Amino acid sequence: MPTQIESLFLINGEAGNEVLVTDRGLHYGDGLFETLKIKKGAILYWEHHMARLLSGCERLCIPLPDIVLLRSEAERLISEYGNNSDAILKIIVTRGSGQRGYKPTTAAKPTRIIALYPSPRYPENYWKDGVRVTICKTRLAGNPRLARIKHLNRLEQILASSEWDDPAIVDGIMLDMDQHVIEGTMSNLFWVYEGNLYTPDLTQCGVEGIMRHLVLKLAEELQLMVVNGHYFVEDLLSADEIFITNSIHGIWPVRQIDQHTFKPGPVTKHLMDLIQ
Ligand SMILES: Cc1ncc(COP(=O)(O)O)c(C=O)c1O
Repeated sequence: MPTQIESLFLINGEAGNEVLVTDRGLHYGDGLFETLKIKKGAILYWEHHMARLLSGCERLCIPLPDIVLLRSEAERLISEYGNNSDAILKIIVTRGSGQRGYKPTTAAKPTRIIALYPSPRYPENYWKDGVRVTICKTRLAGNPRLARIKHLNRLEQILASSEWDDPAIVDGIMLDMDQHVIEGTMSNLFWVYEGNLYTPDLTQCGVEGIMRHLVLKLAEELQLMVVNGHYFVEDLLSADEIFITNSIHGIWPVRQIDQHTFKPGPVTKHLMDLIQ
């Protein structure tokens, strides 16, 4: 375990923890990030994360980062940390430093930040019995140009996750302005109803999670009928099983949404057995 915070961060390949005050990531959230799980020193789903990062860069017209370089820098941090450890790797790519004003200039050279954090410890029963979530009041704004990519603007999630204090609640479900359920503040949302798997449409907002992608692929292999559409809280509450996904915790069954209770069901358990 490193004792010096510097050794946990690489900024443009250099150990350190300072970025330029002119960086557009700081000024405007003009950039993208990925959060990856490191299991016993191995990076999980690297290709999937890099594909989303590249598609985000293309969408925002940020020059594409050198993936081979990112990988070698990530490996460097992991080996400093202890090659056999569990950890969380965060990769941030911003448009770089710019002059004052929104308009991006082609002169900006992207900044890459690689950070390694200790692995969070979650109680085992989150996987076994499920987690508690709440329905948030903060709404997600719709914008197809920003939907699905993991850009740095996360104020909606920050406001939403400030809505509850109860440490027993692990995530909040967010709706869009038309009251459609979209996702968790840090996860994607699935539910099972009469044997079919449902997940919200992410055309207007929400992050297209890596774990969501893997669940959908698995569901196809299992010949589960998957429905991707616009649904309301009432639809979610009438589900037989509900689960949330992200790259760090994988699949967590939902056992409670506010005062409504649920049980981890066979479809959730089957997917968990195959993915974790
Ligand atoms: C808003 C939001 N949606 C969905 C996800 C799930 O994405 P992934 O499966 O890639 O971790 C995350 C992950 O942090 C998130 O922050």
